[in-house]
Amino acid sequence: MATIELKDVNRSFGKGVGQVQALTAINFQAEPGELTLILGPSGSGKSTFLTIAGGLRRPSSGQVFIDGQDISNLSSRELDQLRLNKIGFVLQSYNLLPYLTVAEQFQLVDRVRPKGNLSPQELDQLLQELDIDQLKNQYPDQLSGGQNQRVAVARALYTNPAILLADEPTAALDSVRGAAVGREFKMLAKKKHKTVLVVTHDLRLKEYADRIFEINDGKIKQTK
Ligand SMILES: Nc1ncnc2c1ncn2[C@@H]1O[C@H](COP(=O)(O)OP(=O)(O)O)[C@@H](O)[C@H]1O
Ligand SMILES: [Mg+2]
Repeated sequence: MATIELKDVNRSFGKGVGQVQALTAINFQAEPGELTLILGPSGSGKSTFLTIAGGLRRPSSGQVFIDGQDISNLSSRELDQLRLNKIGFVLQSYNLLPYLTVAEQFQLVDRVRPKGNLSPQELDQLLQELDIDQLKNQYPDQLSGGQNQRVAVARALYTNPAILLADEPTAALDSVRGAAVGREFKMLAKKKHKTVLVVTHDLRLKEYADRIFEINDGKIKQTK
């Protein structure tokens, strides 16, 4: 069964002559065990798509199902719980808290969600794989964009979510580090059977993808 399904989803912003149609007639499914890539240029609707797929934003029309459940029927509190327990987000803006060190970003997750997170050993291993294990006592503004991006990836994975949604997760990374993120995401799909959905304009990620879609002016089509 698809873990994420969008049915006839449309999304517009604004009204009247200023209205922008960000997504048009989107039908899409993402499956566990697969890394799905959605490629598109800037302004094509990638972030709108990802935030709607993860229940951070609502569509103007159409339906979103997560694990078969129509999320438009959920209260905002139920939706918060569903996201917390099932979905890891890597957002374009990283969303790290500026007044917390790298280690404290994870401790904060422990406070919101005391159980089910990675063990200290698993977290150490993840930080090593992403080459950020030496940065635990640094604050976000002491890190490069690429380092912050990898911390954001690690934080999304810390809750061991069944679904990982990532918005341009490699945009700030050089080829070696971008490849490490690509391999990590592929491993999560293949070895841990997670649903991994990445929206990006980074063509380097194509080699890790099971399925590829292109998005242009808010319309998607499958190319692989
Ligand atoms: N909050 C918003 N208000 C108005 N227009 C928006 C908003 N968010 C996105 N858009 C518009 O929707 C379109 C798609 O944006 P977005 O999903 O951010 O694209 P991408 O992530 O591919 O760059 C763009 O034309 C953008 O200007
Ligand atoms: Mg975007």
